[in-house]
Amino acid sequence: MLILGIESSCDETAAAVVRDGREILSSIISSQIELHRPFGGVFPEVAARAHLDKIDPVVVEAVAAAGIELKDLDAVAVTQGPGLIGSLLVGVSYAKALAFGLGVPLVGVNHIEGHVYSVVFDNPPVRYPALALIVSGGHTNLFHVPEEGKYKVVSRTRDDAAGEAFDKVGKMLGLAYPGGPVIEKLARTGDPRRIKFPIAKISDGRPDFSFSGLKTAVSRYIREHGVVPVGEGEEPSAEIRDIAASFQATVIKSLMTNVEKLAAALRPETLIVAGGVACNGALRAAAEEFGARIGIPVYFPSRHLSTDNAAMIAAAGHFHLQRGERADYAMTADVTLRLQNLENEDADLRRKKVRYKL
Ligand code: KG4
Ligand code: ZN
Repeated sequence: MLILGIESSCDETAAAVVRDGREILSSIISSQIELHRPFGGVFPEVAARAHLDKIDPVVVEAVAAAGIELKDLDAVAVTQGPGLIGSLLVGVSYAKALAFGLGVPLVGVNHIEGHVYSVVFDNPPVRYPALALIVSGGHTNLFHVPEEGKYKVVSRTRDDAAGEAFDKVGKMLGLAYPGGPVIEKLARTGDPRRIKFPIAKISDGRPDFSFSGLKTAVSRYIREHGVVPVGEGEEPSAEIRDIAASFQATVIKSLMTNVEKLAAALRPETLIVAGGVACNGALRAAAEEFGARIGIPVYFPSRHLSTDNAAMIAAAGHFHLQRGERADYAMTADVTLRLQNLENEDADLRRKKVRYKL
């Protein structure tokens, strides 16, 4: 079964052709990072317009690179949400028109579920129950996955996503957008124990994440110690490298503390770590070390599948298509789409207070 995956939820226009949900025949990603760099983050209107320019050439390229023709496709899978509305609408509208024109089934995919499926290409099959840590620029969630396709959020961020914290701290330090990869590079030559940054303690006792206090702590440290951000073309100072290393270590500690807590309670047989922040080598090492300690495998996507791509959307779409799920042409982008089909979310949670333990 040949599925065309389409992804346009944020700032990557991507298309991929995947056979039987497991074999990537092509994966084309057109990144808009350069367009958004001057703004220090994704500018939604600019993103939507760029998707409009790129979607057709990217799909054409993906089909050609797979060595197939459009008429060979058996189905189209597209990211339905969550994401930026203008960006999502471009992919969804294009996918609907294409599926209609080809007379093939269409399926809408949750972007976060796509990240979960990004591990299927380079790892043995996932054994359930699994725990899936999805850490990206827009999301930080830990899911309990008792069986394929069933998800329960067991830990979520109350404020910023981990990747967002990397990007914001990068900005404070005068580093290029996105901050994650640059901070990781600087952290390699910095001292992660130099500065003690706080890990948020959630006052209602839930094992959730919170990164906004950490971001504020870094900002305060920079102000109180008169740290000068890195200027263009300048070498980062030892102090900047220590801040990067200490910040990164705190984020990883915070992520792994909850993973450990929930793994002890839920006894998963696989740990999945995916999303843009899963590119981070130090996070990978910490997760590997933990997996080895409790005797379960840890699956990561290969690095080019960690950030947004369409192969993961086709893989998740394959699962739903196999179950007979089809979207009709009334399907539309849904920015609020959640990935939880076991128990309702506690809607009040976000409004509750977060206390920081310093
Ligand atoms: O999954 P992704 O491409 O987009 C979203 O769905 O958000 O993730 C992008 C995020 C950015 O915040 C970026 O800074 C972060 O992933 N990231 C990293 C690394 N590479 C990318 N964070 C930490 N270390 C990295 N090496
Ligand atoms: Zn993503």
